[in-house]
Amino acid sequence: MAAESISTLPTWKKLEIHQGEISRVLLNDLFANNPKRGIDFSIEEAPLFIDYSKQPVNHDTINLLVELAEARGLRAKIEDLFNGQVINRSENRPALHHALRSKTDHQVFVEEKNVHSLVVSELEHMEAFIKLLHSGEIKGFTGKSINTLVNIGIGGSDLGPRLATQALHAFADGTIQVHFVANIDKQEIDAVLERVDAEQTLFILASKSFTSLETITNANTARDWLARNGAENPCNQILAVTGKPDAAKAYGIRKENIFMIWDWVGGRYSLWSAIGLPVAAAIGINRFRDLLSGAEKMDHHFRETSFDQNIPVMLGLLDVWHINFFGSETLAIIPYDQSLALLPDYLSQLLMESNGKQVKQSGEFVDYNTGAIIWGGIGSNCQHAFMQLLHQGTHHIPAEFLVASRANDNNIEYQRLLFSSCIAQGEALMHGNQGHEGISNDQLIKGNHPSITIIYESMTPETLGMLLAMYEHRTFVQACIWGINPFDQWGVELGKKIALDISATIEGNSVIREFDSSTRQLIDRFSKA
Ligand code: F6P
Repeated sequence: MAAESISTLPTWKKLEIHQGEISRVLLNDLFANNPKRGIDFSIEEAPLFIDYSKQPVNHDTINLLVELAEARGLRAKIEDLFNGQVINRSENRPALHHALRSKTDHQVFVEEKNVHSLVVSELEHMEAFIKLLHSGEIKGFTGKSINTLVNIGIGGSDLGPRLATQALHAFADGTIQVHFVANIDKQEIDAVLERVDAEQTLFILASKSFTSLETITNANTARDWLARNGAENPCNQILAVTGKPDAAKAYGIRKENIFMIWDWVGGRYSLWSAIGLPVAAAIGINRFRDLLSGAEKMDHHFRETSFDQNIPVMLGLLDVWHINFFGSETLAIIPYDQSLALLPDYLSQLLMESNGKQVKQSGEFVDYNTGAIIWGGIGSNCQHAFMQLLHQGTHHIPAEFLVASRANDNNIEYQRLLFSSCIAQGEALMHGNQGHEGISNDQLIKGNHPSITIIYESMTPETLGMLLAMYEHRTFVQACIWGINPFDQWGVELGKKIALDISATIEGNSVIREFDSSTRQLIDRFSKA
């Protein structure tokens, strides 16, 4: 029997009527009507402070959104997530990324194995490796101590560790230099190999499937580069982080250099696993554990806090409010924090690969919009790039600002200017310059544009852990409202297969299969180059 569409839910219909009412009220007027609005529509879970008061909501809105969450069974779905239920229906798996950072054994079992025991054991494996690495006891093929790690991975095997390593650069002591290679464009690996010493460099082949074309191709290049530089057993300087240890062994990687990740952790949710090895190498295992602790703190907040004071729940519901009731198709992530420059890229995979879906968990097609397009860039650079469109453009684009109240280097003047620039954008988006003297239409900024501002004291391992776990759970909240599966990604498979057909056609210079005239002519242009 066809499952009930959410658009027929009584609460959904109440929200549609409410949207018609509240959309006629300017954000400025919402503030004029409630001097305490700022604090009324903010949530603090230290060190995070979330100000969502510049959103088109009042207390009725919040009550209706919470009512929608209850109607969609969000509370039970959160418990299913943490209890290891098979919530990734299409792949018949649980989603246990939260177990990677849990200090408590919640007695969750997968195939009769205790998940917590597996996680603890692999974390100990990481810890032992990182301590040997930092003490200089891990040597290259000429006996020199290893001082460089190159992570070769893509998607969730790259974006999380790349973001965290950059975000936490202030906590790296420089003992180990870390580089990242992801792209099948050889320029990326060439640029890294030019800068590292084969005698002191370890490579991490990070691939849950151990099949990603980009990663295997780049690993082969690294292996051959090591050999060309004198390594008799190049694979001795390659580690693997994978769910396929047998494939890693067959590749020639030593057993003790193979770190496990499991099917019950999605790639885009895997930073907290051995995929985070480069982060631990850069900042040390203790600070990596602080990252995990921050994420665990957010897990407790998400699982134990009432919905109206629950950060992932409220932000996920606000996303639904914009997407399904205001017709918004994108969300702009704008960190005024250079250390979070990669956050938009990371969140584009997390949110778009999770919720870019057209089918419900029941297998039926949705008849409403689902995941939004996630884009953005750092401030204050954005003010000299895309902020014009947000201020005077014609699209409804919620903006999300993130900024520290204190810089890691404590430079007051710079942080004051950065912080002021960030807060000014939210204010300008909301107020505009309506009513200012002598404003032409060209100069008119209508305002009434929504934004959220996330403030934290400074970017630390715990803060980053909390922040990224918040976005993971926010993704889950959206998916629960829409009834979709955020943990599979069947949509990426077709392109990979066609690429192999095209590559084989070019390589063999014969027609592997018929292509359309566009693809055919494009192939021909490569072949004739
Ligand atoms: O983009 C598809 C995808 O499977 C991602 O979900 C994943 O993070 C990435 O490719 C890399 O996969 P693997 O870690 O198996 O190489």
